[in-house]
Formats: sequence, structure tokens, C-alpha cells
Amino acid sequence: MKTTLHIGSPSQLETECLVVPVLDAAENNNGDQSDKHDPRLQTSDKAVIAATGDLIAAGEVTGKMVEITLLHKPADMKAKRLLLIGGGKAKNFSSYELRKLAGAAVRNLKAKDLKSFAFLAPGSGAEDAVKAIVEGAFVGNFDPDYYKSDRKEQKIEELVIVAPHGANQRSLKTAMEQGNIIGEAQNFTRDLVNEPSNRMTPTVLADRAKQMCDEVGLQCEIYGPDKIKELKMGAFWSVAQGSDEEPRLIVMRYEPSRARKKPVLGLVGKGVTFDTGGISIKPADGMEKMKYDMAGGAAMIGAMRAIAQLKPNVRVIGIVCATENMPSGKAQKPGDVQIAMSGKSIEIINTDAEGRLVLADGLHYAQQLGCTHLIDAATLTGACVVALGMVNAGIFANDDDFYKTFNKSLQKSGEKMWRLPVDEEYREVIKSNIADIVNSGGRWGGAVTAAMFLKEFVGDTPWIHLDIAGVAWMEDNKPWIAKGPSGFAVRSLAEFACDFAEK
Ligand code: BES
Ligand code: MN
Ligand code: ZN
Repeated sequence: MKTTLHIGSPSQLETECLVVPVLDAAENNNGDQSDKHDPRLQTSDKAVIAATGDLIAAGEVTGKMVEITLLHKPADMKAKRLLLIGGGKAKNFSSYELRKLAGAAVRNLKAKDLKSFAFLAPGSGAEDAVKAIVEGAFVGNFDPDYYKSDRKEQKIEELVIVAPHGANQRSLKTAMEQGNIIGEAQNFTRDLVNEPSNRMTPTVLADRAKQMCDEVGLQCEIYGPDKIKELKMGAFWSVAQGSDEEPRLIVMRYEPSRARKKPVLGLVGKGVTFDTGGISIKPADGMEKMKYDMAGGAAMIGAMRAIAQLKPNVRVIGIVCATENMPSGKAQKPGDVQIAMSGKSIEIINTDAEGRLVLADGLHYAQQLGCTHLIDAATLTGACVVALGMVNAGIFANDDDFYKTFNKSLQKSGEKMWRLPVDEEYREVIKSNIADIVNSGGRWGGAVTAAMFLKEFVGDTPWIHLDIAGVAWMEDNKPWIAKGPSGFAVRSLAEFACDFAEK
């Protein structure tokens, strides 16, 4: 999707459709339940106001979230159509809602086979608004029905962002370009996650990462079983050994020459391209979903893509441990003891707790490569989905300052994450009788005990763990995003890398 900027009068713009947000300024206590609305067009353009006056007076436009009203041939305007889109209560409106509006506009208009439209940036046309519109539009422009023979290639090809006279052209253009990079990287990740496991093996994932790195100028190293064994990645290998598909260790490096040697940000992703559970096999019902168990790894690949193009002045290393988790005659069994790369011994209680095994070695290796700060992302536990549902990802941190800086970047990315604890008291449940630790802490606090396991492998290095099991895959279509892979965490990681570089 091509994006351009138009600074000037919205009614003078020739376009297939001009989209104008409408906010509800009514101050009532019973929220959206109330009938009282005070819809406000987010423009002072006379022609737009005149064209919509009757609709608003008749109460047909309320400003409710993603309420859509479409008019053809609005008078005194060069646009062929005018689409009003509700953004909810004015006092709650932020770029978080705006991103959704842009996505909803794209999904609505591409279904009508439109190829281009213009979106009016509300307010004075601030940078964060422009960026949110572009990001949201990219999100809305993605469809996962890749393998349908009758797939309709309905895509928006061009988006024009309209900002009022007096807006700063240069800074808005920069914001637009950043939005482009981030939105495109998020969809890149969604493409990877969307592929079924027969088409997205560890080898394919590594090839796609390599191809991406070549394209954007990142260094990339891909390693197979020999190197994984040579590095003594006993935890990663214990998962990989059960599969006929070879594992891949993917290392992507962003090392701008002007950046200082330190800090080095390490992004470590779980790349389990299919999780059967191994010998502790999962029930058949819903197992097909486990093709998205590489979403954390795919998020890191997408984030590295965005970072390579945003060019923050800081070194970043991306590591993805890619493997299948399969039952077989070669597969590890409950009760087995494995030695991780760090030297820690692990008693395998449940072969389905494989994500923490591959990450243990990934996190240790990242430190060996010189990473001073670590972030991992993984579809790690069903327990996290039980705790937080599908709205918030779980976020865990061993360092409050590191957490706080990351949390600031979340305001920009609009991705929701809720902090869960990693208090030392929880360590109790991962103690083993015969080894240093067990790989499963049992039933209670499953998301936390999984994080506690990872914590064993990060030492004192500032570390953040993102459990994205509940948010990496959308269960239903939303007006602003199709069901399927969400590309969660790409935006936050890209924003964070930029903020981290400036600090
Ligand atoms: N990949 C799963 C976690 C998962 C569950 C992701 C649902 C997405 C949706 C992970 O490898 C797993 O199987 N975790 C187990 C851990 C348990 C055996 C300690 C789980 O959550 O049940
Ligand atoms: Mn599992
Ligand atoms: Zn898994």
C-alpha cells in the first residue's frame, strides 16, 4: 500500500472516498448505553459540514465506535464518496482508537472493491495521529485467506492522509514513513504466522528470515543441528531431537557503525513451527492451532525488519530458536534430564512445556553474543490466556526501570500488556528432586512459573518476557482486523528499539 500526504482542504481533494472521523462529545454517565449523543465532525471544512448536516440532525450519525455512514456524491466536494466513521467518546479518544478507525475504513472500503481513499487526520494533524492511521490501515489491509482458490484480491493500494493547512509537512511525512515501515513489518510477521506448519518448517522460517535480512541489509547467520549440538544447547536440542524436520538457530544482527558497543538489545523468539506437545501429546481438538506457536519468533523477525529500516542508533541482535515439537522414537520423554547451554540441569516433567526449553538456550546464547538487555516473546502458556484472555499479553520483568521504559513504548504502539510477577517465592515450584529445575511447575500460576523458568537463564541481565499466547491469533473478525495472526509485539518492539536508542 502506497501512502501519501495531502495538506490542505479536504473538500478540494479528488478521491474515491474521503473518510472523516466523528467523535461523540456527549458527557453522560451511562457510557455507550445512553441515547444522548453529541456527534462532532473532526473537520471545520464547510462542504463536509454541509453535506452531513441533515444526517447528523436526524440522529443517524452518533459517533459510536466504528459506526459507518457512507454518502455518494457529496455536494461541493471533489470526493466521489464521503464516509463518516464513529470514534466513540471524544474524551477517551486517542491514537489507540484512531488506529482501529483506519483499519475499519480499509476493511470496509476494500470489500466494496475500492483501491484508494483518503483519511482525514483528526485534530491539528499530529505526528502520532498520522502514524496511527498508517499503521491501522496496514493492519486492516491484511487477509489470511491465502489458500482459498477464490481469494479476492481486494486490497487498498493507495491511502492519502489529509492534514489541515498549517500542518508541518516534513514531520508528518516522517511519521507517515515510520508508520509504513512498522505496519508493513507487522504484516510481514502475520504472513509468516499464517502459514501452516507443512509450509513453515524451521528450515523455511530460517530461509524467510535470511531473505528478509538480505533485503533490508541485516547480517544473518543460520545454524542447523551440528552447530546447536556444538554449542551444547541441550535444552533446545531436547525439543528438536524428536522431529524429522531439522531445527534452525536464526541469528539476525543490526549493528549500525555509529552505535556504541553497548548496550546491545537481544530479541529472543520462540519459533516452534508446530507444537504437538511431544510425548506429553496434546488433545486432537484444537491442535491445529499450534501452527502459530512460532509467533514469538516471527515477531522478532518482523521487529528486526522494522528496526533495520527505522535505523535507531543502537545495536540489536535477534535470535529465533526454530523447531517442531513432535512425538517419535527419538523424542525426549517425561523424566529425562537435559543439560542446558548454561550448564543448568533440567528434569523434563512435561514435554509440552517445550517453549521455555528452547528459550532457555536462546536467552543464554544472546548473553554470550554480548546482549546487555533481553526481551523474549513466546506463545508460552495456556495459563496466560486463562489469566488475561485475548486482550492483554502477559509481561514479566526482573528490572523495574527496564520495564518502565518498555511500558512507555507501549503507549506509542497501542499494544496492551499486563504485568505479572516473577517474585522469588514462586521459585519453589520449579525445584527438582534430581536436577537443578523442572520444566513444569504444575497447575497454579502457570504463566508465572514458566517465566520463573526463563528467569533462571538470564542472570542479572535486565530482561522482559512477553507471553503472547492469547493475543498472537485473533479468534474472530473485528471491524479493524481480520481473524488469524495478529502480528502482536512487532510494533512495541520496533518502538522500544527506537526509544532505547535515544535513552
Ligand atoms: N504452545 C503452548 C502454549 C499455548 C497454549 C499457546 C495455547 C497458545 C495457545 C505451550 O508450549 C504449552 O503447551 N504450554 C503448556 C505448558 C504446560 C505443559 C506446563 C500449557 O500451557 O498447557
Ligand atoms: Mn507445548
Ligand atoms: Zn508451545
